[in-house]
Amino acid sequence: MIMKFLNHSISFAALAAAALLIPTATLAADAAAGKASFNANCSSCHGESGKGDGPVGAALQPPPRDFTTGEFKFDADGDGTPGTDADLTAVISQGAAAFGGSPLMAPWPTLSEDDVANVVAHIRSLKQ
Ligand code: HEC
Repeated sequence: MIMKFLNHSISFAALAAAALLIPTATLAADAAAGKASFNANCSSCHGESGKGDGPVGAALQPPPRDFTTGEFKFDADGDGTPGTDADLTAVISQGAAAFGGSPLMAPWPTLSEDDVANVVAHIRSLKQ
């Protein structure tokens, strides 16, 4: 009886550990891929640290968003909460002008859905 209970506990613990490990590993990989893409495509304006102080961005008005604050402007899907993953995805894919913002934040049709999700994961990691 006791052995049976122990076996159950062990397999439950193994399952729980697996369930915890899988999303963590996926998130880390996404953010790392997103960092490479961000540094190649976005850092000229947003800066590698995300402060909005890239060499091109410094001269822009409105300035590129400072990602270290974790605060966002556009509620692209109109659900009442700006800056959700869906909002950031829409602004990156379709450009800020589509949501009443600056055309200087251009659309990025060259980035796949996965690329955009990775970049969003990286942007989240820039919050200080
Ligand atoms: C040419 C400069 C430039 C580049 C390159 C650029 N951005 Fe932006 N970005 C801006 C500006 C300017 C804004 C502010 C727009 C506004 O407030 O109207 C902005 C805003 C944003 C926002 C804010 C959305 C919100 O709701 O506050 C996100 C997210 C974003 N950019 C992501 C990216 C990503 C990801 C890339 C690269 C794939 C990128 N940007 C490349 C200039 C740029």
